[in-house]
Amino acid sequence: MKSSNLTPIKVGLLGIGTVGSGVFNVLQRNQEEILRRAGRSIQIAMVADLDTARAQAVVGPNVQVVNDARAVIANPEIDIVIELIGGYGIARQLVMEAIEAGKHVVTANKALIAVHGTEIFAAAHRKGVMVAFEAAVAGGIPIIKALREGLTANRIEWIAGIINGTTNFILSEMRDKGLDFDVALKDVQRLGYAEADPTFDIEGVDAGHKVTIMSAIAFGIPVQFDKAYVEGITQLNAQDIKYAEQLGYRIKLLGITKRVANGVELRVHPSLVPAKRLIANVEGAMNAVMVQADALGTTLYYGKGAGSEPTASAVIADLVDITRLHGAEAAQRVPYLAFQPDAMSDAKILPMSEVVTSYYLRLKVADQAGVLARVTGLLAEAGISIDAMLQREADEVGGAGSTQTDLIILTHDCVEAKMNAAIAQMQSLPTVLAPITRIRKEELA
Ligand code: HSE
Repeated sequence: MKSSNLTPIKVGLLGIGTVGSGVFNVLQRNQEEILRRAGRSIQIAMVADLDTARAQAVVGPNVQVVNDARAVIANPEIDIVIELIGGYGIARQLVMEAIEAGKHVVTANKALIAVHGTEIFAAAHRKGVMVAFEAAVAGGIPIIKALREGLTANRIEWIAGIINGTTNFILSEMRDKGLDFDVALKDVQRLGYAEADPTFDIEGVDAGHKVTIMSAIAFGIPVQFDKAYVEGITQLNAQDIKYAEQLGYRIKLLGITKRVANGVELRVHPSLVPAKRLIANVEGAMNAVMVQADALGTTLYYGKGAGSEPTASAVIADLVDITRLHGAEAAQRVPYLAFQPDAMSDAKILPMSEVVTSYYLRLKVADQAGVLARVTGLLAEAGISIDAMLQREADEVGGAGSTQTDLIILTHDCVEAKMNAAIAQMQSLPTVLAPITRIRKEELA
């Protein structure tokens, strides 16, 4: 039968804000092209939103708009429910109810998948429905598809991503204009690029959700956001960005997950990255994900990580996948987390103290004979090897006649517990005059 003769697949939308409007508009604009790909037309048949008047204005008079999400879930005509409400509260209940009602679910909700994914996938498996979440990680970049399908031949070794546009924008502003974090945040908020409450972004939680999802798909482990190490960018200052630059590095907030001999690393924190790497040059609100895989080697996925139509692009890709597979046996579908549910690994997520990486240290020290020798002596006693050092003239740091100076040390790899102990020892030296700044460093070679 010609695809145009099949009845449309019917979609119910929960929440029609920025992303929901994008989904509606792109589906309308590209309907012919999407029909040719999906083999069946995809129709938004019902929308639930608390602001029904605004929602009706977006979708026009031919789409039913209600203020009760449960009316969408209860509608037997609806095949797919798109959840665009966000958060773990009501969104979780509605997704579980939609699955129980036998609906396929598409969501952009990274918090929900990273925290409650195991429960959601188990319910979906029981009911034989699909749950798709391409838009949850890096917005429009098809990174879930790449990890789950494109790289399926490979043993994935590590992933490192700039997966939060707000913080990348702030870091770009800090570097370009020499601003400290607080000032850059205010600038970015004034420009409308950061939420009024940007806590999840600047504290690294949003990136933590996204890297948790990528880790699960890359290594076939359950989603375990509670075991992720999450550190944001609020403690960074212009001085460290400048020193890093002088040493040939940029500072980026990276979501990192790595397969190592004794488990899996899962962490988000500011990282020095060599300025010559492509990913170090990703600026503004753009996202990029670097994947190291054994057969293919390194790949880099770059694009818009947020916004109405970029995110809609990912949501609609999921709609097309589900439309093609609607009615197919569950065994013919790609598993939610890329690996078959009975073949998941129980590799442990390593605590941060067991992670091995290299470091940037900045010490404010008294400008006296022997200070450098004491500091490097403690590192040597701990078995921590120094890669590079920078010492500023006291005058440059503290003005004419200053008796303090900054000592910047880059180390080679060492286990974090060892570095913590060495920092505690250096901190107790009377000639170390302020809390030591430590930023991790990733060569991404
Ligand atoms: N708040 C996110 C960011 C966008 O700044 O990247 C959606 O994930």
